[in-house]
Amino acid sequence: MELAAEYQVAYDNNYRAFKKGISSTESIQYYTSWCVGYEKDLSKGETYNGPIEAAKAVGKLFPADRENVKILDIAAGTGYVGEELRDIGFVQIDALEPSEGMLEIARSKGIYQNHILDILGGTNYIIENDYYDCTAVSGGMGEGHIPCTGILEMIRIVKPGGVVAIAMREEYLNYVEEYQNKLEPLMEELEKAGIWEKIDRTVYENHFVGKTGVLFLYRVK
Ligand SMILES: C[S@@+](CC[C@H](N)C(=O)[O-])C[C@H]1O[C@@H](n2cnc3c(N)ncnc32)[C@H](O)[C@@H]1O
Repeated sequence: MELAAEYQVAYDNNYRAFKKGISSTESIQYYTSWCVGYEKDLSKGETYNGPIEAAKAVGKLFPADRENVKILDIAAGTGYVGEELRDIGFVQIDALEPSEGMLEIARSKGIYQNHILDILGGTNYIIENDYYDCTAVSGGMGEGHIPCTGILEMIRIVKPGGVVAIAMREEYLNYVEEYQNKLEPLMEELEKAGIWEKIDRTVYENHFVGKTGVLFLYRVK
């Protein structure tokens, strides 16, 4: 794909976090070194639209009483998803994010009630079963990022009747070995086993610099 020069820089900086073979530790360290430039490169509403798509979908599923809905923004980064959720009336939002630098920027925005420095399913902070009404992820799925087992953790911490929302780059479903023939089959198996049910699977344009995104929405049973 040919990209304009300013998009090429954003693309290259983002690629360093998701490059083939990167470990979880390397990726998290990279985010801390990149955190100050992150929002310049991934400009919400321009180069990067995943957070807007995820929050819009969550808003539709919780049309009323939003101040009482407990949400965990997983892989919260600098707080893009939280900002969108706050702007449509959600208040009880927590952030889970393993990069200290990213989480400090999120904290400075005053959006979240709790700031959890951890990977999903980590041990720094154990989240109770059935605690949240919703978990939302944008951009947290990819090489060296949230593994397939993260899906089980999302289900564990969401109440029956609650929602799991995941916005990710569509091509990662096949490009990332951890997900290839594993992530969607796992989601389907969990549905067959009656653990959750699919609300929607939508492909959308321009998740990140022209790359399509896919938004998964599931209701936990
Ligand atoms: C592309 S950023 C997305 C940040 C934010 N959600 C957004 O949309 O701007 C991906 C984030 O995932 C976090 N991350 C990576 N591995 C993770 C894991 N296993 N569990 C939770 N977060 C993780 C990174 O530290 C990084 O901040």
